[in-house]
Amino acid sequence: MKVLGLESSCDETGIAIFDTESNKIWQRLYSQIERHQEYGGVVPELASRDHVVKAAPMIEDILREWGDIDSIDAIAYTRGPGLIGALMVGASIARGIGWALDKPVLGVHHMEGHLLAPMLGDEHPEYPFVALLVSGGHTMLVDVQAIGKYRILGESLDDAVGEAFDKTAKLLGLPYPGGPHLAALADQTSQSQFKFPRPMTNRPGLEFSFSGLKTAALNIIQQYNPLDDSLRAEIAYAFQHAVVDTLRIKCGRALEQTGYSRLVVAGGVGANRRLRAVLTEVLEQRDGRVYFPAIEYCTDNGAMIAYAGALRLNAGQADEGVFDVLPRWSLESLPPIQPPI
Ligand code: KG4
Ligand code: ZN
Repeated sequence: MKVLGLESSCDETGIAIFDTESNKIWQRLYSQIERHQEYGGVVPELASRDHVVKAAPMIEDILREWGDIDSIDAIAYTRGPGLIGALMVGASIARGIGWALDKPVLGVHHMEGHLLAPMLGDEHPEYPFVALLVSGGHTMLVDVQAIGKYRILGESLDDAVGEAFDKTAKLLGLPYPGGPHLAALADQTSQSQFKFPRPMTNRPGLEFSFSGLKTAALNIIQQYNPLDDSLRAEIAYAFQHAVVDTLRIKCGRALEQTGYSRLVVAGGVGANRRLRAVLTEVLEQRDGRVYFPAIEYCTDNGAMIAYAGALRLNAGQADEGVFDVLPRWSLESLPPIQPPI
């Protein structure tokens, strides 16, 4: 089965084609980062308009390399969660192509896309596993028993971890989205005079809270104002250490609680080098294994949507009747499917 996938939940337009027989993927990605940078965050209306402008030419472009649109067997798009206008663009295009070609169309859960992204690599984790989903909008630990059998073990009560990176980076005067910039700044030093709290680690449970970290950063910034470059790097270092340490502690607890030996890390913050190094070490110590998507599949992309959609479409699932998008959508409400192709 050849599935065209469209991702448009936020500020990336992702188009991909996944072929379930050859396991091959073709993809195009357009990031709107520059458009939103002057506002210091994503402006939803501008995001929707950019998806409208970019998506169709990108589909034409990928088809020039791949082949005839009639050879597409089905279409998958991001149904949610995400920005409603941005989601509507992808959904409308996907539905339009589906109607024109008389092919099935399926709305995919964005976080399921992230969660299954490591499967696009050469080494697939077996089920079950614990998934740590860390993006700009979500932070959650999930017990993944099989595709579509998800139990949320813990979530952030306030800021998502990517959001905490971005807000703290903004306080340090870094461009949007600040996560990778803050990480690069932190890497400029190997120590810090500051120690940030590890929120919610001194009590049991798998819930997270990251909003206090940006306040901790703000207090230091105000106290030491004006900051020189080495102080900024020390703040970034202390922040990144606190975040990674908190995620390490909670992942360890989730593995204890489930008894699993496999951890999958996905979502934009999964690109963070320190997080990758620390979790690799933790899983080695536990005789387990951690799986990360390739860096290009960590942040939003069409490939993960084409892939997750293909698994479900291949199992006979498709949208029926009137279509809608779901800006808020629980991962636990998804139906299960048979093991992957
Ligand atoms: O998954 P994603 O592309 O979009 C959402 O679905 O939210 O994640 C984007 C988030 C942003 O907050 C970005 O700053 C963060 O991932 N991010 C990073 C790194 N690369 C991206 N955070 C920390 N370190 C990185 N290397
Ligand atoms: Zn995402």
